[in-house]
Order: sequence, then C-alpha cells, then structure tokens
Amino acid sequence: MKKKLFLLAAALFGAANLQLSTASAENVITVNAKKLGAPIQSTQWGIFFEDINYAADGGLYAELVKNRSFEFPNHFAGWDISGKVMLMNDGPFDRNPHYVRLAPSGHNDKHTMIENHGFFGMGVTGGEEYRFSVWARVPEGGSSKLWIDLVDNATMEEDQKLGNVGVDINGKEWKKYTAVIKPKRTFAKAHLRVWGDSKTTTDVEHVSLFPVKTYKGHENGMRLDVAQSLEDLHPGVFRFPGGCIVEGTDLETRYQWKNSVGPVENRPLNENRWHYTFTQRYFPDYFQSYGLGFFEYFQLSEEIGAEPLPVLNVGMACQFQNGDDAHAPCTKEGLQQFIDDCIDLIDFANGDPATNQWAKLRADMGHPAPFNLKFLAIGNEQWEKPYFDRLAIIAPEVRKVHPEIKLIGTSGPNAEDDHFKNGWPAMRELKCDLVDEHYYRDIQWYKNWMNRYDDRAFYTKDGPRVFAGEWACHDRGKKYNHAGASIYEAAFMTNIERNADLVHMATYAPLFSHMEGWQWRPDLIWYDNLSTARTASYYVQQLYMLNRGTNVLPTTLSIDGGTASVNPVPKGEDGVFASSVIDTQKQEIIVKVINTTATAQSITIQLTGMKPKQLEAINTKVELISLNCADYDAENVPGKPEVVSPKAFSTTLSADKKVASIQERIPAKTFQVYKVKL
Ligand code: AHR
Repeated sequence: MKKKLFLLAAALFGAANLQLSTASAENVITVNAKKLGAPIQSTQWGIFFEDINYAADGGLYAELVKNRSFEFPNHFAGWDISGKVMLMNDGPFDRNPHYVRLAPSGHNDKHTMIENHGFFGMGVTGGEEYRFSVWARVPEGGSSKLWIDLVDNATMEEDQKLGNVGVDINGKEWKKYTAVIKPKRTFAKAHLRVWGDSKTTTDVEHVSLFPVKTYKGHENGMRLDVAQSLEDLHPGVFRFPGGCIVEGTDLETRYQWKNSVGPVENRPLNENRWHYTFTQRYFPDYFQSYGLGFFEYFQLSEEIGAEPLPVLNVGMACQFQNGDDAHAPCTKEGLQQFIDDCIDLIDFANGDPATNQWAKLRADMGHPAPFNLKFLAIGNEQWEKPYFDRLAIIAPEVRKVHPEIKLIGTSGPNAEDDHFKNGWPAMRELKCDLVDEHYYRDIQWYKNWMNRYDDRAFYTKDGPRVFAGEWACHDRGKKYNHAGASIYEAAFMTNIERNADLVHMATYAPLFSHMEGWQWRPDLIWYDNLSTARTASYYVQQLYMLNRGTNVLPTTLSIDGGTASVNPVPKGEDGVFASSVIDTQKQEIIVKVINTTATAQSITIQLTGMKPKQLEAINTKVELISLNCADYDAENVPGKPEVVSPKAFSTTLSADKKVASIQERIPAKTFQVYKVKL
C-alpha cells in the first residue's frame, strides 16, 4: 500500500515537474554590448581524436588494406590465402620483419593468391583511382608478374573483378612498386587479390591500397570525406592520440610516438586496447599500424587550422586496469624515458633540423618548417599520488628545457569525485597551465551542472585554466547520437562560453566511429566504408566553432520578470539558456539561445549599452541559424546523414535610442544562433 501511495505521489510530482518544464514563459535575455568581456581563446572549441571505434586504421587513415605488413599476431589475419603461400621473417624492414612468399604451386592451374578483406570490406568508388603499392622481389632473380584485382565476391555477374592491373617485378632486390586501379563501379565491401605468377616465386611485403584522392592529396593520407568533416567543423585545437591508448593496458602497449614516425613501412605494430576492453563488443583484429602517426597528426592539425595538442604517457599504465602496480619507477631515472619523450617531441615539432635529430626527422618527412607546438598534456585519466608524484618529476624537467610550452595535467576520469577534488589542488601546486577534466554524463548531470564554471570558489581566479578534454551527453541506451541529448550539450556550452576566461579549451569526445566497428558511443562523426554522417552533436559543436567570436559579452536572463542572472533556471531543470559574444573583427554580436524545454518559449533579446548612433546604424536584419532537436531519437547515420541539421533563417531587430531588441518564439528543444551585424 505504502509503495502504491509512493508511486502515485511520484507520478503526480513527475506530472507537476513536466508542467514546469513545458510551461511557456517570458524570457528576457539582456546583453551588455558595451562591456567587452574575457577574450575567447582560439582554442576554445576543439576536437579530441583517439583510435577507438576504428577511428585511425579503417577510419580517418585512408589505407584500405588491413594487416598490410603481416605483423598481426595471427600473421594472416585479414587475408585469405590459396596455393603455395609462405610466411617469412627476414624482410627489408627490421621492425616489421614478416613478409609473404608467393611460390608456384607446382601446377599451372593451381594458383597462388592472397586476398585482403580490408576493414569490414574496402569502400571503392566507381571511376576513381586507387594506388596499389607493394614492396617486392624475385628471390631467385629474373622477373615475375603480379596480378592485382579489386573484387566483389558477392556479385552474381560472371566476372567478380571491379578493376585490375598487372605489376612487373624485377630482380632480387626489394623495391617498391606502384600501380593504379580504377574500379568500374562503387562497392562498399571490395576485396583486394594479389595473384602470384604460376612460374616464378615472388616475395611481397607492405601490401597497400589508398585512394589517390586523399585529404590534401598526401600519399600516406587521410580519407577525404572523413577529414573534410574535421575541416568543416573549424576546430581551434586538436588533441591526440587519446585517451586510454596513451596509457596502454600495460606500459609496453602504451602509445609510443617515436614508433609512429619515420617511413611507414617500418613503424612497428601496436595492439589497440579497444579490441578487448569491452568483451561484449570484441574486435580481435583491431591493431594500430601507426600509419597515422605523430607527423600526420601535426600535419592534419595544421591543415585543418587547429593547434596541435599531443598527450603523452606519464610513466603509468591504465589505472582502471592495473590499480597502481604497473607503472614506471617513480624516480628521475625510472622516468627518464618519459621525460625524453616529452622533450624530444617538442623538438620534433618545433626544433631546428640543422641542430636537432628529431627536427631533422620532421624535415626528412617533408615538413622542414616547425609545427609551432604550444601545448603538451602529460597523463590522460590519472589520479592521486602515483600520478602527482610522477608529474612532479617530469614537468620541471620539461620546463627546464622548454619553458615556452604550456603543460596540461589531469584531474582524473570523473568531474565531481574525490580524485577530481584532490587532483585540482595538486595540479595547481605543480603549476600546470591547464587541467584536463572529463565528463561523459547523462542529461540529468548536465542539467545539474549548468553553472559548473561559475563556481569561482573552486575554480580560482589564478592558477590553471580548464581544458574540458573529453565530454559528451549520454542518454537512453547510448545510441549513435540522439538529438535529444545534443540539446543539453548546446545548453552546457553557454556555461563554458560565458566563462571563457576560465575554460580555455573544450573538446567533445570521442570523435569518430565506424558503423560496424564501434566500441563506444555516442560519437561525433559516424561513417561506413563509403560515406560519413555528422551527428546533431557535430552541428552543435560546429555552430559554436563557426560563431566563436573574440570576446564574451556579459549576458543575463530573467524569467517572467524574475531576478536576472547568468542562469536563472533552477538547478536540475529544463529552461532557456543563453550566452553572447562579440566578434570585434567582423563587427558582429552573436547570441546563442537554447530552449531545452518541451514547449516553445517567448524570448526577447535586448542589446544594451550601445550609443544612439550605433543603434541608428544597426542592421535590422538578423541572421538566424536554428538546430531543432525536438525528435529525441532522431539521429544522423551514413545513408541518412541529414535527419537533424541546422537551418538558416533571418529575423528582425527593432531599435530605439537605447536598446535594440529581437522578439522571438524559440521552438521546443532548439538551439538558435542570432547574428547581429553592427
Ligand atoms: O573516449 C573514450 C575513453 O574515455 C578515453 O580513452 C578515456 O580517456 C576515457 O575514459
């Protein structure tokens, strides 16, 4: 009985709450256009890349062949073989010694062949060019022929070939051969067959296939549509290469940047912890080829116009997986390798090729000019004494050599627990320039923390600034990315934006996911083998990135004539949230308004503090961009990429001698950006 009463009360309370959150109110947003607030960092909004969900191999990195160097623990993983195929291990690349010998089977009609499945197949587009390359030799001398076919194994056509090409191999020396294949039609699941000559033995190593059209045309390049989705975001900072992969399940398998530079053929394979982290989504053939390595990360940062932000290991393996037992000794000697990794990386990025070996390597790889690295994070999700003590040894050593680099520490994996609360003072003590915070949380958490960065008792005026390095609003079953959660991300970002003096960087996470290979969701961008989809969260991020502004403008809200404040919405509830910036170069005021309630809301935006002359000259046509997330479960996925997307409108502004006003009804669950030209 008691339980029934409780349920009834809970239902009534729920209904009352629902009414509260669906009631329409008069919301007055007052923007002080005279008072220039904190400058907004160019790094304010950015992206976080980790090789999770097949983000690197099989994703952004355009290589189509999986296990191209035959170095997976199962050396033929990803390959079918037939005829006389032998695995050898004295190849031309010392860190990837395995290769394959294709020998005559002894009978003209018994063919020797290897066939690669790619990453969930290979996506190829009809009429486009694909560059096949292979290191090969004829061990007995003389010449041989390789036949390269791109095939559709599932076709009912007579001939499975989508395209093919022959490659002549000459001599006993290992050489690189290339050839271009043009498939006759588009297919998402192609395979690559390499046929041996039925009379001669041929050795093959580093079998590779790239689209000729990669992002910016690099041969060891990025998939065009995937990289384009990054450029189109306009991120200000690019954090890489992770995440937990920086730590490794054990120190041996941590991400080691030095292994990821130099000729691709000789970058040693590393395991990827995401292949086994979640046993309910197990991907035994998920490894890191390091084809997308630190040179490529820096180059990509430069090309998409983002500040590079590498994260390096602090001498600790993942604390979730190991407790405190798997770390490097906490002494200067024990951590020397990690100190060197930091200093050498800064030299790799910024040093002079004439005097520094790492800078010379950068130049040899094709980038003599420095990459202008400014930030370095040390440690990913680390906590408490084992971390503080190691950072206390590493950070001063790095600063001694490179005081110009801003160092970023971490407050651990959570954004409100004891590790977090202990982490911040420790990072302050260690004089970190920024502290990396992570919060993958549900809608209610976001509603509860809409004033997170207004709390200047915890986040003091001086000391490290905040880097919200991994965050996303998760909800109902963690779908690909439902619009209903993205609206809370937009609302939470007003909290970051108005506190731009404190929060200098925020990067949504994770960035990428392959439809057939995900371990973690939601994610910002999804793809299959042929196309990408930009999620509602992507559009939220993009709207902030495209409308970053140069300075905050003080902004308050009041509801139904109540007291004005930066956020009058009661903690934990839905409402209207807003923040504003000015772009002093473009002479534009940008007001972002988010209605998280289930009802349209009346809003009045008042621009105050302008001179009468300014008000006279103001452009009354206001650009309005609107992202409606009312369909909670709506999501953009490859094949249906535009279910939720921003739409452009315009509205009008009226001005008298004191104030310019915009009056609007903002639809339920909608993010609107108002752009006023001064
Ligand atoms: O983004 C996925 C994981 O979440 C990251 O690797 C880690 O830093 C966090 O726990």
